[in-house]
Amino acid sequence: MKTPKRIGILTGGGDCPGLNAVIRAVVKTAVNDYAMAVVGFLDGFEGMVENKFLNLNADNVSGILTRGGTILGTSNRADPFKYPVLENGKYEYRDRSDQTVKTFEEHGLEALVCIGGDGTMAVSQKLTQKGIPVVGIPKTIDNDLYGTDVTFGFDSAMTTATEAIDKIHTTAQSHHRAMVIEVMGRYAGWLALCSGIAGGGDIILIPEIPYNIDSICEKIKERKYHSRYFSILVVGEGVKPKGGEMVVRKMIDGSPEPIRLGGISHKVADDIEEKIKVETRVTILGHLLRGGVPSPADRLLATRFGVAAAQQVAKRNFGQMVALQGAKIGTVSIEEVGGKTRTIPLDHPLLSVARSVGTCLGD
Ligand code: F6P
Repeated sequence: MKTPKRIGILTGGGDCPGLNAVIRAVVKTAVNDYAMAVVGFLDGFEGMVENKFLNLNADNVSGILTRGGTILGTSNRADPFKYPVLENGKYEYRDRSDQTVKTFEEHGLEALVCIGGDGTMAVSQKLTQKGIPVVGIPKTIDNDLYGTDVTFGFDSAMTTATEAIDKIHTTAQSHHRAMVIEVMGRYAGWLALCSGIAGGGDIILIPEIPYNIDSICEKIKERKYHSRYFSILVVGEGVKPKGGEMVVRKMIDGSPEPIRLGGISHKVADDIEEKIKVETRVTILGHLLRGGVPSPADRLLATRFGVAAAQQVAKRNFGQMVALQGAKIGTVSIEEVGGKTRTIPLDHPLLSVARSVGTCLGD
């Protein structure tokens, strides 16, 4: 079995810290250990449809380990099977997957490394079925990808959120206010729960546990009774009240995941003010969580993932996503990953850890 000589790589979906660290690790391993040539497609799958690329080598990946974002650019609206084309001022959707395969063949590639979240893995699975040999690498600040214990990007986002919670603590204390801090994470509460525990949140709301506003108000009142005149609430963007709905901010046509959440914290804050007359303010951290330099833990994980992905390519072990399984890097079939969301199980030990230190989880 011969090692592939030319491979492609792309970053898809929302960016996160650590993407450049992965690109660097894949390219260095592919070039140094296997003498492969690497073609980087620009702006996710768009680069394959439109044939936009950059040849990658040891020189142009040097010095990018610590840089946020992705030197290849990314897109979460470029699904080749439902590709947006602007016609008469309106987006129409076309199947451009044959063009994607053509680009792959014209470059003389033997494998494609796709770095992304669930949307990217779903497209990767469909490309596998069209004959493109793919190896996936899991990224997302949401940490919600099935098949891996952790995605890279999560630790950096958790660090940024925790720093924000620390800063908001002092102003909350000075003004005796309730402060609601909303974090991203979609339908999974990992970012809210982990940064909330690390930042000492008094109330943490996660999508997996619909909240009861009366329990939240009781907790704030109880804190006041014990002379804690401020409260910190850490809220995942996908939370909903018991019997209520999530707040959808907008729909993005042509995105494999069209729903954009955000803004539930305003409802939580308004309801607190109305019910118990405690002055409340909202901070939505939003895309701040996707920016900045990757944390050391993310640089390490991204580098391990990148090296492992190049090794899987060399072994021609395709249709697989590299994954953290306990302390080891293993693989999981991309088919198994697609279409699933790894939310927090209701018996997860971190939930009881939060409760043991007195955190209200809104139920
Ligand atoms: O999946 C990563 C993520 O940042 C989510 O946490 C968030 O809901 C979404 O992407 C935001 O997407 P966009 O960048 O398209 O607004």
